[in-house]
Amino acid sequence: MFSIRKIAIAFALGTCVLADVFNPDPSIFPDWSKTKRFTPVEQTQMDRMGGYDVSPNKKHVVYTHSQWDLSQNKYKRGLRLVNLEDSSSVDLTAFEFGNSDSNPVWINDDIIAFTAVRGSPSTNIFAISVSSKAVTQVTNYTNGISSISYSTAAKKFAFISDVYQGMDMEQSSTERERRKGLPYHGVVYDQLRIRFWDTWNTDDKSRLFTMPADIVNGVLTKTGDPVNVLEKFSPQYFGLIPDSYDFSPDGKNIVFSSNIPSREQQWKSVGGIYVVPADGSVAPVRVNNGMDGDASSPVYSPDNKYIAWLQVFNPDNDNDIRKIILYDISNDTHRKVANSFMDSPTSLQFSADCTSLYAEVALQKDVTVLKINLSNDSMTRLTGDGYLTNWSEISNEQILVVLNSFQFPDTMFLVPADGSKKKTQVTHDNDSNLKDLWFSPTESYWFTGALNQSVQALVTYPYGFDSSKKFPVALIVHGGPHVSWYDAWSYRWNINMFANQGYIPVIINFHGGDAYTQPFSNSILMNWGTYPYEDIMKGFDYFLENAEFADKSTTVALGASYGGYMINWINGHTDRFKALVQHDGIFSTISMFYSTEIMAFSTVENGIPWIPEQRESSEKNSPEKFVKNWKTPTLVVHSEKDFRVPLTEGISCFSALQRLGVESRFLYFPDENHWVLQPYNSLQWHSEVLDWIGKHTNKTNWNLSSIPSK
Ligand SMILES: *[C@@H]1O[C@H](CO)[C@@H](O)[C@H](O)[C@H]1NC(C)=O
Ligand SMILES: *[C@@H]1O[C@H](CO)[C@@H](O)[C@H](O)[C@H]1NC(C)=O
Ligand SMILES: *[C@@H]1O[C@H](CO)[C@@H](O)[C@H](O)[C@H]1NC(C)=O
Ligand SMILES: *[C@@H]1O[C@H](CO)[C@@H](O)[C@H](O)[C@H]1NC(C)=O
Ligand SMILES: *[C@@H]1O[C@H](CO)[C@@H](O)[C@H](O)[C@H]1NC(C)=O
Ligand SMILES: *[C@@H]1O[C@H](CO)[C@@H](O)[C@H](O)[C@H]1NC(C)=O
Ligand SMILES: *[C@@H]1O[C@H](CO)[C@@H](O)[C@H](O)[C@H]1NC(C)=O
Ligand SMILES: *[C@@H]1O[C@H](CO)[C@@H](O)[C@H](O)[C@H]1NC(C)=O
Ligand SMILES: *[C@@H]1O[C@H](CO)[C@@H](O)[C@H](O)[C@H]1NC(C)=O
Repeated sequence: MFSIRKIAIAFALGTCVLADVFNPDPSIFPDWSKTKRFTPVEQTQMDRMGGYDVSPNKKHVVYTHSQWDLSQNKYKRGLRLVNLEDSSSVDLTAFEFGNSDSNPVWINDDIIAFTAVRGSPSTNIFAISVSSKAVTQVTNYTNGISSISYSTAAKKFAFISDVYQGMDMEQSSTERERRKGLPYHGVVYDQLRIRFWDTWNTDDKSRLFTMPADIVNGVLTKTGDPVNVLEKFSPQYFGLIPDSYDFSPDGKNIVFSSNIPSREQQWKSVGGIYVVPADGSVAPVRVNNGMDGDASSPVYSPDNKYIAWLQVFNPDNDNDIRKIILYDISNDTHRKVANSFMDSPTSLQFSADCTSLYAEVALQKDVTVLKINLSNDSMTRLTGDGYLTNWSEISNEQILVVLNSFQFPDTMFLVPADGSKKKTQVTHDNDSNLKDLWFSPTESYWFTGALNQSVQALVTYPYGFDSSKKFPVALIVHGGPHVSWYDAWSYRWNINMFANQGYIPVIINFHGGDAYTQPFSNSILMNWGTYPYEDIMKGFDYFLENAEFADKSTTVALGASYGGYMINWINGHTDRFKALVQHDGIFSTISMFYSTEIMAFSTVENGIPWIPEQRESSEKNSPEKFVKNWKTPTLVVHSEKDFRVPLTEGISCFSALQRLGVESRFLYFPDENHWVLQPYNSLQWHSEVLDWIGKHTNKTNWNLSSIPSK
């Protein structure tokens, strides 16, 4: 649940003509005897790209990459340097076990700062010279730092470090150790929120610091002590936790976004956009007064005249439409950019010449970047198929993008800014091995779903496809619900993983999704069980009726989070599936209201249980109400550190299944959150999930026993 991606309108919905998806061109399939299956083993060992930065002269890009090694059960990591002129690349720091190098930031065209431990007491700033490869240590703090950036104008770093009220970084690390040594461990709270995602809130808070540093005799050197730029304003500002920030081009100020703390913040979110001097000398000034709702992604224009950010105008619904605000610093005025656009961008950057804004936005099955001309608000879409992770302007004519899709993980490309969407690949980390494996192309079809509206579905073809054969079908339901299933790579729910086991995965982008305009998204508030279920059943039937190669009688359904809610709902409303997999799903909308750490979400989605009409509506949409109908064999998966949909929702589901005598199994992870992230746990997850659906479709799928024991 509940990523922040949002809506889009301006792009016409498709039609319902029969697409080639039901009659694939045989030439898209390889010679199966020469093609290997993509299995969880290859997936967990993929070389993964992390944060990156483009050099000031735009000739190089440096990025973090990491790779898990199965035989050692450890990660390798390092910094890699790419020459944008010829795509040649080298490891800048050793790609090895124990390397913690991250967050590379160019200081000039030769020196790159980055964070690492490298034998220091915590995460600190280091620097490397590209020409000499010499590494130097810049800071040596015991209190760890993260999210570094550097202003050449200010000759200062900015970073985040967790400190206690009234204490500096070193005092805070001493205090943390003192508390760990106490013989009692109770924690006292006077108000919500007490925990978030997978972590209990503690008294130390993430604070924004600046620290002077400059090149001295060719070496990046710390030239002063860190300043907590919010410290002066305690206690009333102690609760401000910056979540994104940007230096002004002249280095004098920093703009940041932060939730404004209050007793109500658990159910009403008001995000402040604040400007604070980089030396912390004056109190932060809020520049989005009167705009109540979540605010994010603030950025300065390179000419220092404007600040742009994304603003929701509804404090009750973080998933309502996000508008682009352009704030004129000279006269303190605001303008909504492209106000008629019904989609919600997720992040912004200015063009270097300040005439345009780039905005990342989900549009149907893709996440793309739009270039918006600020003189007349016209938009040009710069990337085509796939999911955009990040981008940087190289010149007025060209941008660097990080893209992934059902066919490849994060990879860098150069694309022109003219909308032709022609991409030139820049990084090649996984080319050689990807080419021998089966990655189905992304296919889609449209059908008439709930409210007589067109709904899109995505499909991939199974390994070993042969149009004269029939294949079992796996319905996979996305979480959110206000996200969509994009044409994106995933390490947790990789659609081609199911295709490679011989299933046809079918994904319906049902009502509530974020990439098909805001009204489409909002249509399921207080209505979780209705339109999504109608869309899913209509879209699934449409596929089975039209795809000759689908084995209509052998179908399974799987989903996590909201998708798990929908699996519980499906179990109460149909027995058409041979087996279900329910991961991290909501069992009761009533208990979810009281136990999740995002009460605002539960409130707007299903209502407040002590208000009679809202309780009635909530119960109408609660899977718990339909437990008496449950018949389908179900695998339940839930993890201890899932504070979003707490573990008891999974236990309740398993208890109901067991008490009713429905064939069921419970997979519990003591050390995972709402997501299963650790590589061996991920292998076990895949093994259990594939075994469960395999057992009920008479297939032998990949399982853990195929890994040579060590
Ligand atoms: C994406 O790019 C922006 C701007 O360059 C940067 O601030 C952010 O950290 C990047 N995110 C990742 C994951 O690299
Ligand atoms: C960093 O600090 C530790 C003590 O916390 C000390 O042992 C070490 O020598 C210091 N390293 C440098 C490079 O100053
Ligand atoms: C603010 O200044 C800009 C020019 O920088 C101008 O276009 C705009 O009209 C001004 N707004 C108001 C309300 O004065
Ligand atoms: C932006 O729009 C203005 C006004 O129509 C136009 O003069 C300008 O050339 C456009 N800029 C670009 C980069 O297309
Ligand atoms: C904006 O300006 C560009 C470039 O002059 C032009 O192509 C486009 O049609 C204009 N769009 C609008 C909405 O006026
Ligand atoms: C990805 O790339 C790395 C490094 O080149 C390689 O070791 C790994 O096997 C590749 N994995 C796949 C699945 O291509
Ligand atoms: C959908 O269309 C059918 C046939 O045109 C019509 O009977 C029905 O009322 C429509 N339903 C909605 C919700 O608009
Ligand atoms: C699997 O095989 C068993 C025994 O042959 C049969 O009873 C069952 O119906 C089959 N199930 C499916 C889903 O084909
Ligand atoms: C696990 O896979 C092996 C083949 O790799 C197979 O022999 C075995 O039956 C499978 N186990 C289950 C429970 O499916």
